[in-house]
Amino acid sequence: MTYVVIDACIRCKFMDCVEVCPVDCFYEGENMLVIHPDECIDCGVCEPECPVDAIKPDTESGLESWLELNRKFAETWPNITVKGTPPADAKQFEGETGKLEKYFSANPGEGT
Ligand code: SF4
Ligand code: F3S
Repeated sequence: MTYVVIDACIRCKFMDCVEVCPVDCFYEGENMLVIHPDECIDCGVCEPECPVDAIKPDTESGLESWLELNRKFAETWPNITVKGTPPADAKQFEGETGKLEKYFSANPGEGT
């Protein structure tokens, strides 16, 4: 199994998760992060760190497409190991639905 980042992260991108991951398996897009499923060791410590509940174990149902998205973009976006500054308007997007369709960006982030 692995953990995956879901749409709640989009445009929130708080990055508390990267600080606790023991294997540095987060990858940075322009407005969200993803987890590399083959690098995640399923420790679960990142899940409670996310303020918007955007990290889920892939054992939950209905996350297949998120697993695919995490895998796809973890292979092209840069690795991120240090928490950066969240978007200034991050709070505005907390709890919003349909963020994948409205805001997802395939562009890479800067990485650290
Ligand atoms: Fe990293 Fe553990 Fe979270 Fe996987 S579950 S992304 S290894 S902190
Ligand atoms: Fe995203 Fe939550 Fe991490 S908003 S960047 S998964 S702390």
